[in-house]
Amino acid sequence: MKDNSAILTIADVGYRVGDTTILENVSFTVSPGEFRLITGPSGCGKSTLLKIIASLLSPTSGRIFFDGKDIATLSPEHYRQQVSYSVQTPALFGETVYDNLIFPWQIRHQTPDPARLIADLERFGLSQETLTKSVSELSGGEKQRVSLIRNLQFLPKILLLDEITSALDDVNKRNVNDIIHRYAKEQNIAVLWVTHDVSEIEHADEVMRLQPQGSQKRETHRG
Ligand SMILES: Nc1ncnc2c1ncn2[C@@H]1O[C@H](COP(=O)(O)OP(=O)(O)OP(=O)(O)O)[C@@H](O)[C@H]1O
Ligand SMILES: [Mg+2]
Repeated sequence: MKDNSAILTIADVGYRVGDTTILENVSFTVSPGEFRLITGPSGCGKSTLLKIIASLLSPTSGRIFFDGKDIATLSPEHYRQQVSYSVQTPALFGETVYDNLIFPWQIRHQTPDPARLIADLERFGLSQETLTKSVSELSGGEKQRVSLIRNLQFLPKILLLDEITSALDDVNKRNVNDIIHRYAKEQNIAVLWVTHDVSEIEHADEVMRLQPQGSQKRETHRG
């Protein structure tokens, strides 16, 4: 469901490192429940843009507004609970999958029911034994899904997804795709999904193509 009021406004964002322009004049808005794809050639700045939106990098020009407030004025901890970023190469920590999945609960001083964690694993095609597996034993695609499940323990308002299915087979890609679409639709979560393969993801509201050097072009609109 779409809402006309923007939850996120990217206003003329640029990012330069020394003499190199990585992003220039990137502007768009995102509404609650909107499902937006961001694509473009390798090195064009897609991950940099998501890191800026996640407040992990500061833009060198322009501003970003979340719920009408400049994110530079918001507490990063609070902001990152509302705007969660699933990174391109997920880093897991601790010893087991369980250590990772309980982390979002620990920072909120809560303890999850293990049955809920197992249900989450199974929803993403991972067996219940995965919960106690050592993170060093996981495949790339298993790591991607554990990292995503960790980020979905407490639902944010905006999900930033950076090529989160790149290591998955087609069946798992479709499953992740379905689950994320359901979140957007049923929980009104806005999704910004970076992918190289636009055909992999169905029913986007908007597909935005970043050009090298960062200026963006709206490619298609599939309501
Ligand atoms: N801290 C940095 N200093 C210098 N250059 C950087 C820095 N971070 C990123 N870059 C450069 O910025 C460009 C964009 O990088 P980015 O990771 O955003 O690309 P991408 O579009 O996500 O690529 P891919 O599709 O391969 O993941 C690249 O040329 C990269 O080398
Ligand atoms: Mg990238």
